[in-house]
Amino acid sequence: MTLLEIRNVTKRFGNFTAVNNVSIAVEAGEFFTLLGPSGCGKTTLLRMIAGFDAPDSGEILLDGKDIVGLPPERRPFHTVFQSYALFPHMTVAGNIGFPLKMAGKTPAEIKTRVAETLQEVELTPFAERYPHELSGGQKQRVAFARGLINQPRLLLLDEPLGALDEKLRENMQRELINLQAEAGVTFIYVTHAQNEALALSHRIAVMNQGKIEQIDEPSRIYNFPVNRFVADFIGKINMLEAKVSEVSAAHLTLTVSGLGEVMVPVKAHINTSDQGVFAVRPEQVRIVAQSPDSAVESQLLGKIKDFLYIGDVTTYIIELANGTLIEALLPNSVPDHAKLFDIGDSVVISWQEQSAQFLPD
Ligand SMILES: Nc1ncnc2c1ncn2[C@@H]1O[C@H](COP(=O)(O)OP(=O)(O)O)[C@@H](O)[C@H]1O
Ligand SMILES: [Mg+2]
Repeated sequence: MTLLEIRNVTKRFGNFTAVNNVSIAVEAGEFFTLLGPSGCGKTTLLRMIAGFDAPDSGEILLDGKDIVGLPPERRPFHTVFQSYALFPHMTVAGNIGFPLKMAGKTPAEIKTRVAETLQEVELTPFAERYPHELSGGQKQRVAFARGLINQPRLLLLDEPLGALDEKLRENMQRELINLQAEAGVTFIYVTHAQNEALALSHRIAVMNQGKIEQIDEPSRIYNFPVNRFVADFIGKINMLEAKVSEVSAAHLTLTVSGLGEVMVPVKAHINTSDQGVFAVRPEQVRIVAQSPDSAVESQLLGKIKDFLYIGDVTTYIIELANGTLIEALLPNSVPDHAKLFDIGDSVVISWQEQSAQFLPD
């Protein structure tokens, strides 16, 4: 069931269009993420949902009713910011109970609900501490608890983990997934970090320069990006300029700069002579050492030009005979081997046809 619908929303600042004709339907109970590079309009869109800003045109509907005229405090939403925005003069318990106090609940009810919520976010021992006595992760947990205690219809989160270091961010990501599932509250989550979006979300809207490029589940965004921008922004991908030379029932034949003729799976709305890129993810590229029976005329012979060892995996840069560079990512799963290939090694690269694709311009 659709909880929040954004219909053709546009927001301009002077001549600049920050949000450009955006339409999104968020389902009840969903963890929905707005993902895109800094400056693409995520916060502007979130502020319009919260009611801090009004769209220049378009509609925002809650349960099918337009809420554009409602002030923020009349919307059944809560917003969590990167900066925590805790009240410094209030204890953890005071901060978490504040929305209930504002809603006119009795002290007894507030006490019970705060105690329950403290337990959910594992902050019971910290109830009487002040924000300056907490770590960043603890402060953010207080902010989540305060956001959820009133059971808002929608929790809006703007880069809430942005101030935390990597290891802590990973732990908090797991906690957020659990919190959202337990609370059953619909989340609209803003981030510029693609790995965070993939890890957390039920669905992701990828934004670029005020527009939505793709709305899909994480695995579809990663495996079936609709265009070059999405493919490039989410994860790593090899992209080589390509032109469609033939379209058949099952394949597209591409003429790829540096590779020659290559087949990829067929795709809707693609015609002969379309321009774009041939794309394949580094983890889909296989490398084997060149042996005497490797076809010498193959264009897929190359040499290891460089590598980046990062512990669990190594990224190899392979230079083909004509100078084309291809990246391959291999897990370092062989015991006692830090890496499988060295600079200068002659190798043959390959991939499965289904793992490669054509991305139109
Ligand atoms: N109040 C404002 N006045 C003028 N320009 C703004 C204002 N708020 C945001 N912008 C501009 O709109 C664009 C989108 O900003 P923002 O929504 O904050 O992006 P994001 O959150 O994706 O980083 C940016 O170019 C920003 O400079
Ligand atoms: Mg922002």
